[in-house]
Amino acid sequence: MPLLPVWVERRSPTGRHRWLPCGKRIASVASCGRSDISVLTMAPRISSRIASFVDALPLEPGFRVLEVGCGPGVAAREISRRIGSGTVVAIDRSAKAIRIATDGSKPEIATGRLRFQHVAIEDFELRSGEEPFDIAFAMRVGALDGRHPELRKCAMNRLKAALKPEGLLFIDSDIPVRGSEIDD
Ligand SMILES: C[S@@+](CC[C@H](N)C(=O)[O-])C[C@H]1O[C@@H](n2cnc3c(N)ncnc32)[C@H](O)[C@@H]1O
Repeated sequence: MPLLPVWVERRSPTGRHRWLPCGKRIASVASCGRSDISVLTMAPRISSRIASFVDALPLEPGFRVLEVGCGPGVAAREISRRIGSGTVVAIDRSAKAIRIATDGSKPEIATGRLRFQHVAIEDFELRSGEEPFDIAFAMRVGALDGRHPELRKCAMNRLKAALKPEGLLFIDSDIPVRGSEIDD
């Protein structure tokens, strides 16, 4: 039997919670013995933050979508279920994040419509002959949200090269930008 990744839901006294991979793998549901942590053997459910973001994207059947900084792959999985024959490529510079995303997305990957790739956006490029994207987006990714201004120009150049001219880039709550309008 394949071992399943373990996710923990951490709850603070104020009721806020978030899902974190704890790095363990188990064969079946288990308890870790702490009352503030519950243990599941499945990928995390979609949070209202991610669901709202995905709901706001102008997704259409057949679209090609690029997610930058996908983390455990929650949004990428959800989008792959909403775009019919379209495809999602979800990248992250963290090998661990890509491993967790891949482990939690086996059915979606098997459709051939979702692919995870271990690469930083500063190094990302389309594969030979690969069609550019209709939509690219990033949530809480430092290279694009202003936390790492030294990486932003390079990241935006890579996104411009990967998007169709009429394609749209969504970064957090910023106004979307067309591929053709991204500054060189
Ligand atoms: C705060 S997490 C957000 C994960 C997910 N987007 C979400 O909103 O839940 C940021 C993710 O972006 C990834 N990341 C940060 N800088 C990146 C870069 N330059 N290129 C690709 N991924 C990056 C990190 O490894 C991490 O998985």
